[in-house]
Amino acid sequence: MKNILFAASEGVPFIKTGGLADVVGSLPKCVDKQYFDVRVILPKYACMKQEWKDKMTYVNHFYMDFNWKSEYVGIMEAVVDGVHYYFIDSEYYFSGSKVYSDDPLWEIERYAYFSKAVLSALPVIGFKPDVVHCHDWQTGLIPVYLKERFHDGDFFRNMKSVITIHNLKFQGKWSTETVKSITGLPDSYFTPDKLEAYKDANLLKGGIVYADAVTTVSDTYAEEIKTEFYGEGLDGLLRARSNDLRGIVNGIDYTDFNPTTDKHIVKPYDAVNFRKEKVKNKRALQKELGLKEDDKKMMIGIVSRLTDQKGFDLIAYVMDELCQDDVQIVVLGTGEERYENMFRHFDWKYGDKVSANIYYSEALSHKIYAACDAFLMPSLFEPCGLSQLMSLRYGTIPIVRETGGLKDTVEPYNEYESKGTGFSFTNYNAHEMLNTIRYAEQIYYDKKREWNKIVDRAMAADFSWNVSAKKYQEMYDWLIG
Ligand code: ADP
Ligand code: GLC
Repeated sequence: MKNILFAASEGVPFIKTGGLADVVGSLPKCVDKQYFDVRVILPKYACMKQEWKDKMTYVNHFYMDFNWKSEYVGIMEAVVDGVHYYFIDSEYYFSGSKVYSDDPLWEIERYAYFSKAVLSALPVIGFKPDVVHCHDWQTGLIPVYLKERFHDGDFFRNMKSVITIHNLKFQGKWSTETVKSITGLPDSYFTPDKLEAYKDANLLKGGIVYADAVTTVSDTYAEEIKTEFYGEGLDGLLRARSNDLRGIVNGIDYTDFNPTTDKHIVKPYDAVNFRKEKVKNKRALQKELGLKEDDKKMMIGIVSRLTDQKGFDLIAYVMDELCQDDVQIVVLGTGEERYENMFRHFDWKYGDKVSANIYYSEALSHKIYAACDAFLMPSLFEPCGLSQLMSLRYGTIPIVRETGGLKDTVEPYNEYESKGTGFSFTNYNAHEMLNTIRYAEQIYYDKKREWNKIVDRAMAADFSWNVSAKKYQEMYDWLIG
């Protein structure tokens, strides 16, 4: 049996702000239990739902030297769906009302604490991973601490680390002197071949330099981040590490996201009866959101963090034009105020066509995936993207820009060969996007049989973890040797 520990800042069902949580919560369930014992460690946030906190039980606690203080580290645990979770408990660091704060320095201190606490907790728990699998910048210091501090004695000897980049945009950067002081790492670690990047200390960079392997969440993104445009300043390092860098495309949880059994939706349906049944979900959602009740109207969904990454400036630019078309647009998301207000504005202006839901709701997200005809995701960059996979699963046709994981998971419709699972465009250009949406409208309204065949293919595509979990297993085997 090989032991794997996932360390991350979020994971379903305990806490989620985006796709990282979906991956951390679903992948461990799909790794072969005969050969791997995959456990997960997360911070215990005060803002977790009580229902999940109630599942945790106390394991132990200790005090750890950190940032010139002796800090309390509590350890909790829970088992959900056969997966063993641990939690690092610290009222000081994890008591905010939101998962992430807006203060970058505080974020660095919190996750540096978490990273050190994870390694310090392992001997106390008695779980000895062969591989610590880190996710994003928040856990970037784990590979560093593992090399620098936690190597004496039997327990940590030969322990390997992997870091998966879910989003290169966020790196955890701050002045070198401050990070040195917080982390307690020696001067020699803060050089341009180690943690330093452009004079600052960079936690993600530390992870990439010191991890034994580096992965990201799609093949195309793995290539893109070696270029200046997508590389966020680390393209040079990623080119240098290209032998140890691989892309493994994300899957989604096929139990949680299943139109046949979904408890959140009014009318379950499947790949055989969607032609009759799926529309009942549209009808219900139109009613719920106060949109014009009309089975025939093409409904386009958006479920997203409202940030630049997702291409909302393109949408803002042509939204008025788009609203002249015979479509309904349903948005669910939170994020940058200007995008929240943009959608509120269009909801006010085109009340029976546009519904802006500026909040977070698991239930409404499922209803949107099920009810809509198409799903819009014109991202500027997209490491993988899970929303388009959820849409495919529900026979809701993605309209995407060809970047990162969107390019790898959505096959563009080809009317001559009767192929494809969605619609896509290449350039980051608002009218190119609008033309693509209009092409989709044309197929939807004028060639319904063709549209339904696209839905057939979308629902037949397999983005469960089957294939990708095996790729992670191969990587663990290769690392452990
Ligand atoms: P990212 O991780 O960049 O935000 P992904 O497409 O990988 O993008 O994952 C986004 C996940 O978050 C999906 O599961 C999506 O359904 C969910 N999500 C985003 N915004 C909301 C929201 N406001 N309410 C409910 N779920 C949301
Ligand atoms: C990040 C990316 C998204 C990806 C998710 C899970 O948040 O933005 O593209 O799907 O992580 O890997």
